[in-house]
Amino acid sequence: MSAVEKPLFITFEGGEGSGKSTQIKLLYQELMVREIPVGITREPGGSEGAEEIRELIVNGDKGRWDAWSETLLVWAARRDHVEKVIKPALARGSWVLCDRFFDSTFAYQGYAGGLPTGDLQRLREMVIGDFGPSKTIFFDIDPALGLERTVERGLESEGRFESFDLTFHQRLHDGFKELARREPERIVTIDASQSVEAIQREVLKAVGLH
Ligand SMILES: Nc1ncnc2c1ncn2[C@@H]1O[C@H](COP(=O)(O)OP(=O)(O)OP(=O)(O)O)[C@@H](O)[C@H]1O
Ligand SMILES: [Mg+2]
Repeated sequence: MSAVEKPLFITFEGGEGSGKSTQIKLLYQELMVREIPVGITREPGGSEGAEEIRELIVNGDKGRWDAWSETLLVWAARRDHVEKVIKPALARGSWVLCDRFFDSTFAYQGYAGGLPTGDLQRLREMVIGDFGPSKTIFFDIDPALGLERTVERGLESEGRFESFDLTFHQRLHDGFKELARREPERIVTIDASQSVEAIQREVLKAVGLH
């Protein structure tokens, strides 16, 4: 299998309303048109067990979990997702597009939630070793604009994180920027205030499709 044919594991990261779900669908459609095997998944969730854990994480009162409890739930879900869905799909030769992955844990529970990133890094190594995305797209948007978009999209039942205040979302945004600064090879930053079409062009370029 040549380097070009090797299936890629691409993760989509950024704050609420930054356009992740919009762009993941567009990339999925583009890969389908090119007859490249592809699957879409998301976190928290993505496997049967992980979706059950997702319900515990995203619903309910914002004070339901402290940062550590939340983190351990997220990693329990991720382990199941990686072993049962992501690795088998890649082994079958399918690309995997994932709406959020471990960078969200570093941003939400680390930079915004206050847990030391070194502890999170150790946990990552314990749970999934050196497994990780081939490429990560960070949708960079002013958190106020992102939240405005989610309001326009309408109310959803899964609103636990949207209910956190703007200061939290700003820390989250700063966290994603710091992660992108630390790993510029893997994490491609795209200005998500652009049009859907302009962003899509940058996404295609980032994953090597022109
Ligand atoms: N480039 C864009 N310009 C303007 N509006 C956009 C753009 N991309 C997406 N939107 C709209 O903004 C809203 C949020 O987009 P989307 O659901 O893709 O974001 P998201 O990052 O998946 O959000 P969440 O984190 O809440 O899942 C949607 O109503 C979508 O149609
Ligand atoms: Mg989304």
